[in-house]
Amino acid sequence: MDYHIDELISEEKINARIDELAGQLNKDYEGKELHLIVILKGSVFFACELAKKLTIPVTMDFMSVSSYGDGMVSAGEITVKKELDEDIYDKDVLIVEDILDSGVTLYNLRILLAARMPKTLKIITLLDKKDNHEADVKADYVGFDIPNKFVVGYGLDYAQQHRNLPYVGVVVED
Ligand code: IMP
Ligand code: MG
Repeated sequence: MDYHIDELISEEKINARIDELAGQLNKDYEGKELHLIVILKGSVFFACELAKKLTIPVTMDFMSVSSYGDGMVSAGEITVKKELDEDIYDKDVLIVEDILDSGVTLYNLRILLAARMPKTLKIITLLDKKDNHEADVKADYVGFDIPNKFVVGYGLDYAQQHRNLPYVGVVVED
């Protein structure tokens, strides 16, 4: 399909919001060590920017799960494609996501990780398509609520393309 990308959230706005979120986390986790679980691949851009602004002790691990193929439609369940390297037992864990859409991915991931008995388990997402939730899941920290449109950039892809855009844009069919 032929398409173009319309800017939805500018780089400046994203950076300013990440500053705010980091400030909130520095407060909420004061005196604690925060273990970030970064969900590959899309969340990497957000996680790196966020982590650089945290002043509390931070550790990071990476996991790859998928509920989507190369298109725009959810498959309805997750597959673990890359496991965590480290144990999360008794840790203050924060799952870092790029986008919460149907919520199916995070719903299943939350159950999977909660069974490993972290001390606390919370979720931060850069983007939240609130109107599109199907699963019973809610992020503890949200960067931006966005409309139910397919977006790319700042880590998010369309068929693996456009992750490197420094802003978030909507894919519009020509
Ligand atoms: P969910 O399970 O429907 O919440 O989908 C979560 C995953 O689907 C995200 O981590 C993304 O990889 C992908 N996804 C959902 N919406 C979009 C979008 O608008 N653009 C790009 N990827 C998306
Ligand atoms: Mg994706």
